[in-house]
Amino acid sequence: SNLSKIIIAIDGYSSTGKSTIAKQLAKVLGYVYVDTGAMYRAVTLYALQHDLISKDEFLKEKLIESLPDIQLQFHFNAEKGFAEIYLNGKNVEEKIRTLEVSNYVSQVAAVPEVRKKQVEQQHKFGKEKGIVMDGRDIGTVVFPEAELKLFMTASAETRAQRRYDELLQKGEKVTFEEVLENVKSRDHIDSTRKDSPLLQAPDAVVIDNSEMSLNEQFEKILALAKNAIENA
Ligand code: DC
Repeated sequence: SNLSKIIIAIDGYSSTGKSTIAKQLAKVLGYVYVDTGAMYRAVTLYALQHDLISKDEFLKEKLIESLPDIQLQFHFNAEKGFAEIYLNGKNVEEKIRTLEVSNYVSQVAAVPEVRKKQVEQQHKFGKEKGIVMDGRDIGTVVFPEAELKLFMTASAETRAQRRYDELLQKGEKVTFEEVLENVKSRDHIDSTRKDSPLLQAPDAVVIDNSEMSLNEQFEKILALAKNAIENA
């Protein structure tokens, strides 16, 4: 019916603009938006802050032991219009977006124990439906029953350029090559890991946005969402 609340799963490669679309969609539908990448980034930030990960080593077992000490919450920021992530009571929404966190997050997200804990929390968020969740495994593992699944993709160069522009704007000193390298290496780790690799669900709608404006994407996706809600 018109009033049905559904689950919308948005998966895809990094820097395809999933979160921009997801936030906008949640706002228009009056749904809750959950950025699952932020959860893996926050765990990575914890690992960096506690010297559990560096260029030379990854103290995976220690991180697994520390999982009970890592509490993640989302709190809605009315001014920004979306929920920001908190790590052990501290707002880390900005801190998790650095290239340093990006460089380590795929390794952390590949740890099955880390994933299991995040997925449990994600299931709780989805209990009441009325949710837009973005990530890598939402339509395949977290909510295989989601009423609408989108899979976003764009060329690595297009995505690196977008991420590069964002980082420059924030004043980070990075080169385009570094960012492109990070995008490609995350694609590789995310799609080849054993536990819940980035995969297109068979029933997902693929959106290649290399050549699409935000408005074009949003119109298309909003129409898909309205249709899915009517048919639910
Ligand atoms: O979407 P993002 O770039 O913020 O995600 C950060 C990393 O977290 C990405 O390299 C893959 C991982 N991730 C994941 O493994 N599963 C998810 N559901 C979301 C993100």
